[in-house]
Amino acid sequence: MAEQELAGRVALVTGGASGIGRAAAERLAAAGARVIVADVDRESAAAVVAIIASVGGEAVFRPLDVTDRDAVRRVVEACASEFGGLSILFNNAMSNPLLSYADDERWNLMLESGLTAYWAAALAAAPYLARSGHGAIVQTASIAGARMGFEFASEAYCAAKAGIVGLTRRLAKRLGPSGVRVNCIAPGVIRTPRLVYSGSEEPEFARRVKLLTPLGRLGESAEVAELVLFLASDRASYITGQDIAIDGGFTVAPMFENATLP
Ligand SMILES: NC(=O)c1ccc[n+]([C@@H]2O[C@H](COP(=O)([O-])OP(=O)(O)OC[C@H]3O[C@@H](n4cnc5c(N)ncnc54)[C@H](O)[C@@H]3O)[C@@H](O)[C@H]2O)c1
Repeated sequence: MAEQELAGRVALVTGGASGIGRAAAERLAAAGARVIVADVDRESAAAVVAIIASVGGEAVFRPLDVTDRDAVRRVVEACASEFGGLSILFNNAMSNPLLSYADDERWNLMLESGLTAYWAAALAAAPYLARSGHGAIVQTASIAGARMGFEFASEAYCAAKAGIVGLTRRLAKRLGPSGVRVNCIAPGVIRTPRLVYSGSEEPEFARRVKLLTPLGRLGESAEVAELVLFLASDRASYITGQDIAIDGGFTVAPMFENATLP
């Protein structure tokens, strides 16, 4: 059997217990990486680790709340020393505070978990990624904020996601000389547990997004995981500093054709 492309590499995935992070953890493990699933949700993370093990992959869970930047740094350091280094960092977790949270609190939680934590993890991981000889950081932005003002996302969410694009470019410049690549992905609307707020019904906005998407459907986490794997692998060896949309064409669709004009 041909050697798996990520054999011998260690990957840290934040928010790996659900949705896009879970799919990426499973895909990276299937490609041969030893995966650390870092998340606040112990139960779901344990289930992901068990699923990966059941198909012959290697994964462990480490508890992490990315609203605490010092905890982020500690987990990166601990994982790198425990697993003998780090090759891949997938910065993906972001808090999803309830609408009832006061605006300031919501803003702080989203910016801390969805931007500051990415910066803290990247810099803590950088020396280990450089030493690995294949270092890659992938970060989850979003079309919301990073590509467009999206009415269904909060201002805090859009600001954090736009910030990830700038952070990605700056880190690519800083870490490129040490051989570490840094890219971000901008998913459109992907069918994950985050999307369904109550019951099994798709929210109204998902229905509207489908109507305005050239491919006529929402995205799947497994599709996003393929992009994460590609960017994390040597197949993307000359790609850095980029922000790659994965949205079924939503952001290039001419929405004015669907607007009712006076
Ligand atoms: N689903 C979409 O349509 C979509 C679109 C664009 C971007 N994104 C982004 O993708 C990423 C993953 O979202 P998802 O849709 O897979 O969501 P999800 O809710 O399915 O998974 C998010 C995971 O992050 C974990 N998490 C939440 N807060 C955390 C914290 N403070 N510390 C550690 N872990 C925490 C959760 O426990 C969960 O396991 C997020 O950054 C989100 O903004 C999602």
